[in-house]
This record gives sequence, structure tokens and C-alpha cells, in this order.
Amino acid sequence: MTTPPEFHDRMLSLGLARVTEAAALASAKLVGRGDEKAADQAAVDAMRNQLNMLDIRGRVVIGEGERDEAPMLFIGEEVGNGNGPEVDIALDPLEGTTLTAKDFPNALTVIAMAPRGTMLHAPDVYMDKLAIGPGYPQGVVTMDMSPSDRVRALAKAKGCAPSDISVCVLERPRHEDMVADLRSTGAAIRLIMDGDVAGVIHCAEPDVTGIDMYMGSGGAPEGVLAAAALKCMGGQIYGKLLFRNEDEIGRARRAGLKDLDKIYSRDEMITGDVIFAATGVTDGSIVRGIRTEPGWVTTDTVLMRSKTGSVRRMTYRTPI
Ligand code: FBP
Repeated sequence: MTTPPEFHDRMLSLGLARVTEAAALASAKLVGRGDEKAADQAAVDAMRNQLNMLDIRGRVVIGEGERDEAPMLFIGEEVGNGNGPEVDIALDPLEGTTLTAKDFPNALTVIAMAPRGTMLHAPDVYMDKLAIGPGYPQGVVTMDMSPSDRVRALAKAKGCAPSDISVCVLERPRHEDMVADLRSTGAAIRLIMDGDVAGVIHCAEPDVTGIDMYMGSGGAPEGVLAAAALKCMGGQIYGKLLFRNEDEIGRARRAGLKDLDKIYSRDEMITGDVIFAATGVTDGSIVRGIRTEPGWVTTDTVLMRSKTGSVRRMTYRTPI
């Protein structure tokens, strides 16, 4: 039997919070300025800077894109100061670039870290996603079910009427049929403009967020980040990669994936322990966004560890 690589998750988690805090502080200056690219770049620069201060031998497995399309935090980039454990990193320096540019809610900076070789190397393609919160039997809803059957199955398991179920969906033309099928059950639908990492996380705290289930297609990298969050908070997520052309299939092959039709469960996307941090850029239902007052700026971060199931909410105030 091989010993799993050592992962100093307890020590590293605070460092991880510093990474998302720094990215949020940097991109906050661009909230509402109508410039997605500048906001993203600010977050990338700050995140990379902080990551390189951590005692890790880190490798980006989910990042800003492939090496030829992203100068920083590209897939395969080595990060950290080279002194600690070998870890894999999934990151989205700014999840919700448009939300930030337009000053809409729920923009986050997001990162997850796990022992080397324990995260799905999801290529930058779409993923069909289905997520629910903790406390349900495994497989109570499945990818094979129609959207309306999922609502009925979840309602039965929850002991409520289908019309008492609330589903979160990205508002996209490609989801119109799904939304129509969901509506036939009387379920409530929260349509979000962007940001499906937050969309999935909502399911983990239904009493707080009012969301029971997430479904629909979005970025595959965001799917793995959401799986990391649910591994810490509890809940189920399934994801199936969707390919639109040969280039996207090539991305999956280069990432080492063999079965392109596979439906990944949460624990197949994140096979070991993981730590996860997200800091709010704009106000949202998971964390508050950046606040400034004369001389000070304040961030809110959610920091979690799957080993303990601990979910820490941290407020950080610093002089400006
Ligand atoms: P960005 O922050 O990169 O703009 O991504 C936002 C997002 O809404 C993700 O949360 C989601 O997974 C993806 O875009 C959906 O993609 P699309 O906008 O093409 O439907």
C-alpha cells in the first residue's frame, strides 16, 4: 500500500485565505468599472504573488488556461516557494468577471488545494452539473433523470412538495428547455447571471440560501472548484464534460482524460483531502464583498477543510 502524500492542510489553510483575500482586494478596485479583463488581471497578479510566498511545491492543475493562452497561472505552472509538500491547485482568481465589471452580486476569488495527483484535471470546456446539499442518500438525484424528475425525487427525499424545492440555474438560452421542464413541477428557480461555483455552494446551506439543487452547464474548471467546496461542506455533485469541437476534445486528451463520456462524482473530481477558500469581491449570499471606510478595507472569506468538515468565516481588515 502506498502512503498518501503528506498534506499540511491545517497549516496551509490560513495561507490559502491570504491568497484569495489578496486577489479580492486587487480586483475590488475595478468593481463597476466595466473592464472584465483588467479586473481579472489584477486578481491573477495578486493571487500569483501570494501563492509564491506559500511553503509549497505547488502545481496549477486548473487555472487561467493552457500555457500558450495564459501568461500567468496557466495549467502546469509551478507555484509556491518550493519548500513544502507537493500539492495541486485549482483556482479561479476572479469567478464572475462580468459580475465584477458590472457590480453585480456574488463575484468571488476562489482557490482549492489538495495533495499532488488528487484533483481531476478538467480542461477548459463545459461541464453538465448537478448538485444537492448534505443529508440525502447517495444518488437520490442523478444525471440520467430529467430536470422535473430530479425535483420530484428530491422533494420526496426531503419530505416536501415539488413546489417547495428551489433550484439554481445559470440564465442562458441553452437552459430554456430545462427551465421549462423545471417550471412544470412548480419548483422555484433562482436564475443567476454568472458564477456557478457560488451557485453550487448555495446547495450546501439550503436553510441560509434557500437553494436545494443546482443544475445546468457551465465551466468544467468551476465544476471541480465547486466539488472541492462540497467535499468540505457536504453535498453531492455530478459532472459530465461537454465537448463542442475537436479542439475541446484535444484539451481533454492533453489533460490525460481517457473516458470522455464519464460522469464524475464529487469524490472522483477530488479524490483526497482538500482545502478551499473564497473571498467576496461583491456582496453575495456566501460571503460579503469588499467594504471600504476611511483608512480601511475589509474582506470576508470562507475557508474550509474536508478533513475536519470545518467551515471558517473570516473577516480581515487592513489599512489602506
Ligand atoms: P468568468 O468569471 O470567467 O466570466 O466565468 C463566469 C461563469 O459564469 C462561470 O461561473 C460559469 O461556469 C461560466 O461562466 C459559464 O460560462 P458561459 O458564460 O459561457 O455560459
